[in-house]
Amino acid sequence: MIAIDGPAASGKSTVGRLLAEKLNFLYLDTGCMYRAVTWTALQHEIDLNDETAVTQLAHDIQMEIFPAKGEEDGRHYTVHVDGQDITWGLRTPAVDANVSQVSSYLGVRQEMVKRQRAFGQRGAVVMVGRDIGTVVMPDAPLKLFITASAEERARRRTRDRSDQGHTADYADILADVQRRDEIDSNRQHSPLRPADDAIRIDSTAQPPAAIVDAILALIEQNVAISIKVK
Ligand code: CDP
Repeated sequence: MIAIDGPAASGKSTVGRLLAEKLNFLYLDTGCMYRAVTWTALQHEIDLNDETAVTQLAHDIQMEIFPAKGEEDGRHYTVHVDGQDITWGLRTPAVDANVSQVSSYLGVRQEMVKRQRAFGQRGAVVMVGRDIGTVVMPDAPLKLFITASAEERARRRTRDRSDQGHTADYADILADVQRRDEIDSNRQHSPLRPADDAIRIDSTAQPPAAIVDAILALIEQNVAISIKVK
């Protein structure tokens, strides 16, 4: 089990995915689950201030996450909600704008954490999010907390968005990243923070592949971690 946490667009998902590939582990990006609840609530025109209704939706929603199967649209995984492929809907500005509110609700979190732990029962997993090392998998033998400057994170997200053919305004994206970090870090339940035993990595000046190599070297060197991780 490897837990990776960090603020918005810090490179944690890319690092997590590459690491899972190298180690032949399962991979779960938990952010997509909170995004899926948000996307569905918006589709159903549920009032996002209505915590009871949003929490009920989080319980009712049928969600499946599959690894990508060679689709040519650049996706890294596919998310189905109630049988519908909503993968690209998860990255829309409307979801960005609302996901931190939805994920601040305790009942929503409890339901998602339950599903994340169930996923963890399927085998060795690299799980990525905000509270994996602190709440979801506090016993994970290897915990990483990946950060980067807000400007670098916004640059990366702007590049990703325009690579995917969407309009992307750097200033808007920087504001969104900072706003989500603020809400995620200050919420009452499971705020974004490094676990006490997490290894902190600043990805501002390092490409994901270099970070992955450094982590693999660390796993190699530390036999205790290596045995537990596998
Ligand atoms: O990809 P990016 O870093 O922008 O965000 P994400 O990982 O997809 O997460 C989207 C939002 O979901 C975050 O801003 C959090 O509000 C929430 N989230 C959370 O509360 N707990 C998690 N374990 C993962 C995501």
